Amino acid sequence: MLLDQIAGLFSNDMSIDLGTANTIVLVKGKGIVINEPSVVAVMKNKYGKQKILAVGHEAKEMVGKTPGNIEAIRPMKDGVIADFDITEKMIRYFIEKSHERKSFLRPRIIICVPYGLTQVERKAVKESAMSAGAREVFLIEEPMAAAIGAGLPVRDPKGNLVVDIGGGTTEIGVVSLGGLVISKSIRVAGDKIDAAIVDYVKKKYNLLIGERTGEQIKIQIGTAIPLEKELTMSVKGRDQVSGLLHKIELTSEDAREAMAEPLKEIAAALKAILEIMPPDLAGDIVENGIVLTGGGALIRGLDKYLSDIVKLPVYVAEEPLLAVAKGTGKALEEIKLLQQIATND
Ligand SMILES: Nc1ncnc2c1ncn2[C@@H]1O[C@H](COP(=O)(O)OP(=O)(O)O)[C@@H](O)[C@H]1O
Ligand SMILES: [Mg+2]
Repeated sequence: MLLDQIAGLFSNDMSIDLGTANTIVLVKGKGIVINEPSVVAVMKNKYGKQKILAVGHEAKEMVGKTPGNIEAIRPMKDGVIADFDITEKMIRYFIEKSHERKSFLRPRIIICVPYGLTQVERKAVKESAMSAGAREVFLIEEPMAAAIGAGLPVRDPKGNLVVDIGGGTTEIGVVSLGGLVISKSIRVAGDKIDAAIVDYVKKKYNLLIGERTGEQIKIQIGTAIPLEKELTMSVKGRDQVSGLLHKIELTSEDAREAMAEPLKEIAAALKAILEIMPPDLAGDIVENGIVLTGGGALIRGLDKYLSDIVKLPVYVAEEPLLAVAKGTGKALEEIKLLQQIATND
């Protein structure tokens, strides 16, 4: 125990929010040192062997713009590990980038993973961190980290409901007494919304745009509810009929219509959780409301949209994109909290 405390003083213990869209690394005593897309660009040689060209921001810039032999991969895109090897290399890259060489002790690493990961996937994440030099690895689950990061009193005997809308998954969790009482993870989140926008623009305007443009539309003019002053954005793509490059004006009403289906699915998942809520916890939720975290929480009017559907107060957490990272970081500072919430696998 004492030895452990001394080790803690000299090592750069860190926490990692291993998100489907973004990875955020926090080093104890220093705060956030990395906040980059969970993207890896690889090049395949003629023997099929993969070489990593870039990770993070640099790799995301390559999405949709790569020549044939280069591929920008999001190894955890749908909340499952699509490629173990690439995931391992990505984790290792981020750990090595944040680990100060001059520290002579190996770090303790806490990793927050999507709730839907299987045992095998969790083990792979753990082993990747061990092989990247961790002394000890703890895993915690995303809805729990999100609730802590949103500042909810997770250890109280009271229900707290958090909805974390990331890139690949939306994770809904009810937390009480330091544990996840009920939770649900669906593969409808930011990416599906981007894809729905791409689809809509293609169907309504015959214009082909890429997923990066779909994401930009969502962020710039996307909205869950009608706006008092509607927004517009000019969008470039390729006309499906003429094959020529073309520019159109898109409005926030277009964007709202385009996003309607995936948003409905998120609302339906939330409703489903509320329907199976034990009555005592339901009372707490009526009182405390629902907290939104993750990048999707930034969608205009999403709080009001969901609140109108479930008839409960809905709040957006402060800095929703950082909630999970802050929650995971808090477990790094408080060993007691960590012991209570770490999963046992
Ligand atoms: N201002 C914004 N409005 C709407 N969506 C946003 C905004 N900023 C980021 N996002 C979306 O949030 C998602 C990433 O959120 P994040 O919580 O980092 O995901 P993950 O935890 O899965 O890595 C992406 O789909 C991104 O497009
Ligand atoms: Mg996340």
